[in-house]
Amino acid sequence: MSEFITIQQAIEQGEGDAALRGWVYRERESNKFKFIVLRDGTNIIQTIIKKESVDEKTWADAVKLQVEASIIVKGTLKTDERAPTGVELSVKELEVVGLSDQFPITKDQSQEFLLDNRHLWLRSRFMNAIIRIRATMFRAFREYFDSEGFLEYHSPIFQATQAEGGSSLFEVKYFESKTYLAQTWQLYAEPAIFSYEKLYTIAPSFRAEKSQTSRHLTEYWHAEMEAAWAEFTDIQDWGEGVIKHMVKRVLERNLQDLQTLGRDPEKLRPTIEKDFPRMTYKEAIALLKEKFGIDIPFGKDLRTIEEDKLSSLYDTPVIVSEYPTVVKAFYMREVPGHPEVVQGCDFIAPEGYGEIIGGSARETDIEVLKRKLTDQGENPDDYSYYLDTRRYGSVPHGGFGLGMERVVSWVCGLENIKDAIPFPRTPARSTP
Ligand code: 4AD
Ligand code: MG
Repeated sequence: MSEFITIQQAIEQGEGDAALRGWVYRERESNKFKFIVLRDGTNIIQTIIKKESVDEKTWADAVKLQVEASIIVKGTLKTDERAPTGVELSVKELEVVGLSDQFPITKDQSQEFLLDNRHLWLRSRFMNAIIRIRATMFRAFREYFDSEGFLEYHSPIFQATQAEGGSSLFEVKYFESKTYLAQTWQLYAEPAIFSYEKLYTIAPSFRAEKSQTSRHLTEYWHAEMEAAWAEFTDIQDWGEGVIKHMVKRVLERNLQDLQTLGRDPEKLRPTIEKDFPRMTYKEAIALLKEKFGIDIPFGKDLRTIEEDKLSSLYDTPVIVSEYPTVVKAFYMREVPGHPEVVQGCDFIAPEGYGEIIGGSARETDIEVLKRKLTDQGENPDDYSYYLDTRRYGSVPHGGFGLGMERVVSWVCGLENIKDAIPFPRTPARSTP
């Protein structure tokens, strides 16, 4: 066992001896004292080195320390209201592990500068809090579907076909031929539900979205589920259930991180306490007309601005279903007796964070699938592996995809989705 404790443990302990290791977060000195705020993966703590209480070499080492140097300190803890996290370590021993050059990130840097130096900016309290919340949410997604009897299952990333429209497809040279990067696992999960029935995944998806927005990445983490025998309402129930569970876990485990981000946890509480409003697309456009005077002719997709208006009416995500067939993917099931609308749903996050889940019941009629593929300019022969799912014992089924960074953005209250992932990829950025 290590002799070291984490800074969070030291703060909780508040007294007695402690050995800590971490990085210099802030430093200042007088001719008698050196104050170092130390950080590790868990928190920050003030440490004080008194010239009169340490030997000459220790004092000389302390004076040399710059921001981001890595050190080991041993000493005694005491509570002190003036210290940033309420506890101070009085240092008896100091070991310099790695000196630091002048750290390039100082106060008031531009977004672009921070993105260029993302490998260093990851050390900030801001990114640390986000990535910790993100980890809670990944774990909670798995917890939820594990407890619902689902199996984690993986699709290829190199894929033979499109699923979400050719315009956002990344084509990749594949030896002498070509392939595509996954937009979704879905077309490779559907064949598997005939064996395993209930599946989920969390994997990267890729979209060649040309527009730079605060909601789009070209590479994002896609949490998806697919289940045999599922009704359309089951898909919505699972979506609502997993979002509630993810937010609940964040409120249990990451209050301090939310505080670091200046995010009010009470904004999230309604999501775990209230049922999500559910409405059809037709009801949604009637509501937009009534409340905001916005006229959307049937058959037009909801745009960002309309989703934002809708979300402003609620303090939980809202589920919109039965979109016009023409605006949705080929695989969505037409509403029986109403082929102009499909059993597809979008979950729209509160506070203008946009679509966080897209899901549907899947079309089971192979002829309808072939016709829709053809209408979209696809060759159904390329989809023979997929169409086989409808040839051998087809069953009603469905699923959804949840954009992890969209949910992280909302839960953390971020201005831009780029901060919801360690190294964001956008049309304008594929480095560092
Ligand atoms: O609505 P989408 O395109 O649905 C699918 O891909 C389905 N095949 C999922 C399924 O049924 N298994 O994408 C699902 C979610 C969106 O609701 C959004 O949250 C996220 O993926 N998403 C993006 N997130 C970040 N950047 C992008 N460019 C995104 N595109 C979609
Ligand atoms: Mg969608």
